[in-house]
Amino acid sequence: MRIPVIAGNWKMHKTTEEARSLARAIRDGAAGATHCRIVLAPPFTALTTVVAEVKGTPILVAGQNVHWETKGAFTGEVSIPMLEEAGCRAVIIGHSERRQYFGETDETVNRKVLAAVKSSLTAIVCIGETLAEREAGRVHDVIEQQLAVGLAGLTDRDLSHIILAYEPVWAIGTGRTASPEIAQEVHRAIRDWLAREFGDEEARGIRILYGGSVKPENISDLMRQPDIDGALVGGACLEAESFLRIIRYNAAGAGGK
Ligand code: PGA
Repeated sequence: MRIPVIAGNWKMHKTTEEARSLARAIRDGAAGATHCRIVLAPPFTALTTVVAEVKGTPILVAGQNVHWETKGAFTGEVSIPMLEEAGCRAVIIGHSERRQYFGETDETVNRKVLAAVKSSLTAIVCIGETLAEREAGRVHDVIEQQLAVGLAGLTDRDLSHIILAYEPVWAIGTGRTASPEIAQEVHRAIRDWLAREFGDEEARGIRILYGGSVKPENISDLMRQPDIDGALVGGACLEAESFLRIIRYNAAGAGGK
């Protein structure tokens, strides 16, 4: 049974005070929502504020990035113990914006993932192809390479500390969502790859989120796909109203998959 996850990636938005009111509105609006797990990923400066706002609720707070070392001379970086102490329960690793603008590679993703699975944090590991890669017919090669290198050295048990997020780069922040069928096809391929590498049971248990221009208008169709287990939401998570509508993708409150 895979309980869906709806995660909001706030990116470089929200001062501490803005974060407080957004977290509060989401907390109040989502009270009693048990059909999915809600994850909020504010910027580092707002982590403790958001953690305080959602205390005592099932909402989890995540960092947007992390370093693999626990401490050291790494100016501008934040470590796993720091995120844990701030009250985080998860961390996003390998977001395409980190890859595109900040030199993140499959190898650094792997170091971060290996460190995260040894900690209390759930790693939300992002993969996805660019438009050029899709147009060149390389989607499956790219995804398999990102998975093979990014998840190298993980045991079957480690997999239970991971959530995958398939985020086609051409769909992020562009308003151009992958159709539910296109997303499902890649999610299925990801699960098949996991089954080959880790076994059927592990592959069935892992949650694969879709990300890229998820909105209240398209979430329900995406969530109806058998291998889509939730969403990683950017732009539409910055207003409580639209994020709450995404959380209520199924007004009847369906169970897990
Ligand atoms: P978007 O971002 O919803 O604004 O496309 C998604 C993401 O980058 O995780």
